Amino acid sequence: MTMVYSPGLDGVVAGETRVSCVDQGRLLYRGYAIQELAEKTNFEEVLHLMLYGELPGEERLQYIMDRLDDFRALPEQVYHVLQHIPATVPMMEVVRTMVSFAGHFDPVEGDDDEAIRQRAIWLTAQVPSIIAARHRLLNGDEPVKPRRGMSHAAQMLYLLFGEEPDDMTADLLDLTLVLYAEHEFNASTFTCRVICSTESDLVSSVAGAIGALKGPLHGGANEAAMRMLLRFKSADEAAKWVVEALERKEKIMGFGHRVYRHGDHRAHILEQKMRKLAHKKGQDHWLAIYDAVRDPVRRLKNIYPNVDYPCGLTYHLMGLPLDLFTPIFVSARVSGWSAHYLEQSRGNRLYRPLSEYIGQAERTVPPLDER
Ligand SMILES: CC(C)(COP(=O)(O)OP(=O)(O)OC[C@H]1O[C@@H](n2cnc3c(N)ncnc32)[C@H](O)[C@@H]1OP(=O)(O)O)[C@@H](O)C(=O)NCCC(=O)NCCS
Repeated sequence: MTMVYSPGLDGVVAGETRVSCVDQGRLLYRGYAIQELAEKTNFEEVLHLMLYGELPGEERLQYIMDRLDDFRALPEQVYHVLQHIPATVPMMEVVRTMVSFAGHFDPVEGDDDEAIRQRAIWLTAQVPSIIAARHRLLNGDEPVKPRRGMSHAAQMLYLLFGEEPDDMTADLLDLTLVLYAEHEFNASTFTCRVICSTESDLVSSVAGAIGALKGPLHGGANEAAMRMLLRFKSADEAAKWVVEALERKEKIMGFGHRVYRHGDHRAHILEQKMRKLAHKKGQDHWLAIYDAVRDPVRRLKNIYPNVDYPCGLTYHLMGLPLDLFTPIFVSARVSGWSAHYLEQSRGNRLYRPLSEYIGQAERTVPPLDER
């Protein structure tokens, strides 16, 4: 066997998948182009596509919506634990802990494929409820009880803010969920599949994946990108800073991608909607700052925004707190992780790569008093 070392597994094919692919810069979920899914489907339809392999008809879509509604309520013990987590703990860490904790109250029995799909729907329903309950408890508000019959995105906003959102806000959140649902062998999905490959359970695999998504080089970039934009009072200030930051060889959050070298379609789709939202809200100054960062990165480094760059500003314009940005990403990606879990668990082979040892040559252990 030839041994090949590629830092960060760059260029290494680590598995086969039917869930999604990036083909010459185009992202497809189970064969459907992301542009078309973004235009014609909502998150619940994509969830069905992820778990069952096909888009649902009307009856199946209603089924998925009903199941999500069945699974939204949190166990009483979850509220109790949420109140005991220190207020300073970031929301992503809370979500990681609470997904694991909620797993002790998993209402689904069995481990066959359908049981795993049901567990995945349950997890998808639980995550927004966890985020919203924590958000409200931190602000001294009572958690809101879910209402049946709302879309997943509208429900999330309702649980957070206690009132039904307007259509534009709910639709935009829904679009980000569709765009965030799946992205082949990224770091968190790979983490999920590695955990699954040990024949561990779905909740453990998702909890591990959340830990991987949290980092600013992965899902944490949407929050990090907005934190960067918030530092600037004007487009001039932003443009000056970004040129200097690039000279210092700093990474600009929300830019670049291991797979896309000529731009991320998801960023393009979202950017157009984000501009409309900014106009509607009379917040055009943000667009000037957004462009003032984007243009020099493209001009000087030939690096393009990834989906997290417009997503950060989109969520900010929607009035969502920064700490929720990456947790909302989790609430969408649970669907993709679960699809990969299902796929990995069929025809599984344990992930166990090799490493190249670069440490000390063999030596003898000296007695304790000689060390
Ligand atoms: C996503 C990311 C980790 C991919 O990294 P990668 O494939 O390992 O790319 P590299 O780190 O090898 O970068 C190649 C070159 O582009 C530069 N580069 C990559 N992303 C950059 C960024 N966001 N800002 C500035 N320069 C960047 C690197 O510094 C490097 O330059 P060099 O050749 O002069 O040393 C990287 O682009 C990044 O850190 N982006 C910011 C975080 C982010 O937005 N993550 C979300 C991804 S969806």
